[in-house]
Parts: sequence; structure tokens; C-alpha cells
Amino acid sequence: MQIFKVGGAVRDRLLGKPVTDIDWVVVGATTEEMLAQGYRPVGADFPVFLHPKSGEEYALARTERKSGRGYGGFTFHASPEVTLEEDLIRRDLTINAMAEDDQQNLTDPYHGQRDLEARILRHVSPAFAEDPLRVLRVARFAARYAGLGFTVAPETLELMRQLSESGELEALTVERSWKEISRALLEDRPQVFIEVLRDCGALKVLMPEVDALFGVPQPEAHHPEIDTGLHTLSVLEQSALHKQPLTVRWACLLHDLGKGLTPEEEWPRHIAHEHTGLKLIKAVNERFKAPKDCQELALLVGKYHTHGHRALELKASTLLELLQSFDVYRRPQRFEEFIAACEMDARGRKGLEQRSYPQADYLRGAAKVAREVAVQPLLEKGFKGPELGEALKRERLKALKAYKENA
Ligand code: CTP
Repeated sequence: MQIFKVGGAVRDRLLGKPVTDIDWVVVGATTEEMLAQGYRPVGADFPVFLHPKSGEEYALARTERKSGRGYGGFTFHASPEVTLEEDLIRRDLTINAMAEDDQQNLTDPYHGQRDLEARILRHVSPAFAEDPLRVLRVARFAARYAGLGFTVAPETLELMRQLSESGELEALTVERSWKEISRALLEDRPQVFIEVLRDCGALKVLMPEVDALFGVPQPEAHHPEIDTGLHTLSVLEQSALHKQPLTVRWACLLHDLGKGLTPEEEWPRHIAHEHTGLKLIKAVNERFKAPKDCQELALLVGKYHTHGHRALELKASTLLELLQSFDVYRRPQRFEEFIAACEMDARGRKGLEQRSYPQADYLRGAAKVAREVAVQPLLEKGFKGPELGEALKRERLKALKAYKENA
């Protein structure tokens, strides 16, 4: 049997990037031989094994053929006769279809190295279309490697467009889609992920609510970039430049969905878009079964981001309501993430990326003041139950009024 390193490990070594996990392909072996050598079988779907010591994945070389719609419709063929070239041709991108032996001799029948040098994400063969998840994967790789100058080959984008139009994307499982989306959002240029999905028509299928933002104008005085879709991309870009966590990036992507619902005759104004957007944010959250913290923050940011921007003008009572809505007493981190999302929103405007955002510290200060109101003196005065809650609110309001006056 012969063993080769394949896929991402080869690609990233050639790119000079750190290699985290290594996939191996085994040519000329049977399942029985693998088991006899102590490899542990995993995965009901494919003949994949774990190395007895390193725990890395070793897959028998295989060919695959799609036998139906969706993800269940796959047949594969693994046998000692399947060659390395046959295994590599079923893979998604040429840069992912290279193999390397233990002497670092490269097997590159589909010219991955050439495409790596030319900075092109190109599909290996028409078999690309057999797995619709690859539409998301290519967009994710584009987001990851855009900084190195990579772009999607026009013929690959065309194939992605056909896949998007064919209805195949609807067959993807929620788990696989969310895994790609969340990984892509955490890349260096998550906005490129959305752009590529849009360019191939997949955004319209996966997140029509985000797709609808393109072409919707906003008032130029506040938004020199005008277009709401472009603004959303810039906010996402800022969230990555500022190394925000997934929760914040997800909230940034969804914060303005309501603007896609504004009747054209009201353009470029978007009255109450914070409220109209909530049902759309909820729908996208649920469609992808986003984790609870992502869902929650997206809804809160959707509802309150304008409050964030107007923080310095808010009445003390409105400030208090805001803090209560976030439960800043028990969930300080979530409020920090809200502030971060508001700041990214403000910076995601053309020409205003560097403008300071004094609202952030002002909101932090308000949360601190409200949090510092002590319960003990109120207990000592004999307040209990709901009355205690009311008394605490009164004290917090008083403290916030003083904070506002001194700000
Ligand atoms: N692969 C594929 N089609 C898929 C998933 C994977 O062709 N839908 C192939 C590619 O050759 C890929 C390899 O399997 O390189 C390993 O897949 P995976 O570990 O998911 O991705 P990596 O390329 O290692 O990328 P990452 O760095 O994102 O993990």
C-alpha cells in the first residue's frame, strides 16, 4: 500500500501557511489490511480510518458517483485498484487535489500548483457539481485567501451559478451549511464570502433577506456608500478587521435586514426598520439553527442598534430600558458585544471607517453606573419582591440621570 498526504495539508504547506490537520489517502489497500494494521474504522459512509497513534484520518482511495438528489444520493467505490489520480479527480478545487508522498514529491495531475501560483480557485472536473456544499466551500476559500489575491475562476463561478439555480442547494443539511457559514464568517475577509455567494446566485437562495439589501438606498448624509448591501459588506469587513467573535459578525450581517422591506416610495429613509427586520432576523436564525448566543445577539442588535448610535441623546429612562433589555447585570459580555456590533455598523460606512465612536465608552459607563447601584441599602430599608425591583430601578434611574448630567 502507498500512503499520501492530500487536500488542505498539501495546499497550505505550499502556501506557507500553518497546517493544522492532515488528511491521508491510502492507495492499494483493503479494509481488512487497514484493520490488521491497527487502524480504527470511522464513519459509516466512507472507508475512513483513524491512525492507531496519531488519530489522523486515513481514507482508502475512492471514486464517487452521485446517484440521486440531495446528500443521501451518493455511491462510492473503494478498492485497491482505485488510483491516486482517480481519487483526486473527484475533489472540489485543483488546489485541494494535490497529493504528496513522505519525500514531499508532489502528485498534481490537475495543475493545482499552477492555480496556486496564479491565485485561482478552479474546480477540478464536472464532478464538482455532485456536492452542492462546494458552492459554500469555494466562497469560504475565497474569503480566506482573498488577502493573498485569490479569485474564483469564471468557469467555476458559472458552475456554482448552475448549481444555485438548479435547486440543489435546498438539499443541503442545516448542520453542513451552518458549519461553512460560521467558518466563513470567521475568516479574514468574510465579506468576500457573501460577495461570492451573491455573484453566483446562491445568496438569493440561502439568505434572500440579505440579497434583498443590494440596490436599496440609504440617505447619503449618514451613509456615503448609499447602498444597504454594500454597507452590510463593509460592516462585516470591519468586524473582521477588529477581530470580533462569531456572535458579533453574525449580528453585523443581519442588523439591517428590515431595510429590505421598506416600500420604495419611502426610500432612502427606513422608518422603524429595526422592528420590521426582527421577523427576518428570526427567520434566518432559525433557517440555519444558529447557536443561541448568535441568535440572541442578532435580534438584540437588530432591535437596538439605532439606540446605540444615539446613546448620548437618549433620555436616562430610555438608557435604563436599554440596559434592562440586555440584562447588563447578569450578562455584561453580551452588552459588550452589542456595543461592538454598533461600532462596526458605524465604521462600516464609506469614508467614516476611522471616525471615533464615543457612544461605546458612554454606554459602557452607563452600564457600570447601573450595575454599581447597591441592593443592600434597599434590603435594609425593608424592600422585598417586586417592590425591591421597583426601588432598584428608581435608584438606577437616579444614578443614570446624574451620569448624563456629568457626561
Ligand atoms: N473535499 C471535497 N469536497 C468536499 C469536502 C472535501 O473535494 N465537499 C476534499 C478536498 O480535497 C479537501 C479535502 O477533501 O481538500 C479535505 O476536506 P476538508 O478537511 O473539509 O477541507 P480542507 O481542504 O482540509 O480545508 P480546511 O483548511 O478548510 O479544513
